Amino acid sequence: MSEEKERKGGWGALIVGFIISFLVGWFFFGNHFAVPPLYGKKTQPVSFNHNVHVKQAEMACEDCHYLKPNGKWSGVPKLAKCVECHEEPQGETKEEAHFIKKFVETQKEIPWLIYSKQPKNVFFSHAAHLKIAGFKCRRCHGEMGYNDKPPVYVYSKLSKYPQHTVIVMEKCMRCHKKFDAPNYCFTCHK
Ligand code: HEC
Ligand code: HEC
Ligand code: HEC
Ligand code: HEC
Ligand code: HEC
Repeated sequence: MSEEKERKGGWGALIVGFIISFLVGWFFFGNHFAVPPLYGKKTQPVSFNHNVHVKQAEMACEDCHYLKPNGKWSGVPKLAKCVECHEEPQGETKEEAHFIKKFVETQKEIPWLIYSKQPKNVFFSHAAHLKIAGFKCRRCHGEMGYNDKPPVYVYSKLSKYPQHTVIVMEKCMRCHKKFDAPNYCFTCHK
């Protein structure tokens, strides 16, 4: 009887211990909160609306994001690209008014936050993936580029790198395996 009780106590403690460690892990590392405690959040300096530009202004992704003739990736466009149209107000929204007042009139470059930004020791080239492998943007960036406003930028307070990105090492390697692309450490790490 007493032995039975003790065994039960053992199991109980184990289960309670398990639940506690699970909850602690969940609390600190889980993606269940919009912003868990070890993560911070920021918003973009300008509420850039992809849908308005792609649908209403009939721009193509390549008007703003493209490979330069030397194979380098243009990234996010400079203010000069925006000024081509926004020298004159294009509408009456407060997002645009804020953008014009803060950046167009002062000619300050916009300090965009990059969701997919990789650590410095990672080598990534759009050219290999777009030109040679022929992937579409969606394959890696999902619905980014098809939004009415940029999502909240969530970053790790420890590493300072964004957490929003879905492009992590495991995903790179899984796809490389699938397509028989090289998967040596030095393929991606400088
Ligand atoms: C008028 C120029 C313009 C056009 C056209 C445009 N973008 Fe963008 N794009 C931006 C700017 C500015 C940002 C930075 C702000 C943001 O993240 O929304 C951005 C950010 C992005 C990002 C986020 C990169 C990151 O990790 O931070 C992706 C992905 C993207 N664009 C894809 C697309 C796709 C796909 C299209 C076509 C459907 C497109 N864009 C059309 C200007 C443009
Ligand atoms: C080809 C012309 C063109 C270019 C280039 C362009 N825009 Fe626009 N933009 C527009 C039009 C058209 C609208 C819609 C105006 C409206 O009807 O409210 C717009 C709207 C906006 C708005 C208001 C969005 C909202 O949700 O109300 C912002 C902010 C903006 N643009 C920023 C930018 C930035 C930043 C760039 C450069 C990366 C850029 N635009 C490049 C034509 C352009
Ligand atoms: C194979 C996956 C993959 C594909 C396909 C891809 N991207 Fe990216 N993209 C990335 C990665 C990874 C980064 C981060 C690069 C870094 O920080 O070194 C990135 C960064 C970006 C950025 C941020 C600015 C920059 O240069 O760091 C923009 C904008 C962007 N991509 C747009 C696009 C568009 C538009 C397309 C389609 C024409 C596209 N990407 C296709 C993986 C991809
Ligand atoms: C959607 C699938 C896919 C994803 C996701 C992907 N890659 Fe690739 N990657 C490829 C393919 C396919 C090639 C081979 C292209 C070629 O033939 O050169 C390649 C080539 C490369 C190369 C050039 C290798 C060489 O020596 O030719 C590098 C570097 C690279 N990828 C890094 C990355 C990194 C870093 C990531 C994640 C941030 C990533 N890739 C995500 C499919 C992918
Ligand atoms: C196909 C591309 C690819 C290959 C191959 C690859 N990595 Fe990575 N690795 C990444 C990317 C992208 C990151 C950053 C994103 C992340 O942390 O998941 C990363 C992050 C890391 C980090 C964390 C570094 C940091 O600053 O946070 C270590 C450690 C690492 N890789 C080691 C390795 C080792 C060891 C190998 C070989 C067995 C390897 N990687 C192969 C793409 C790759």
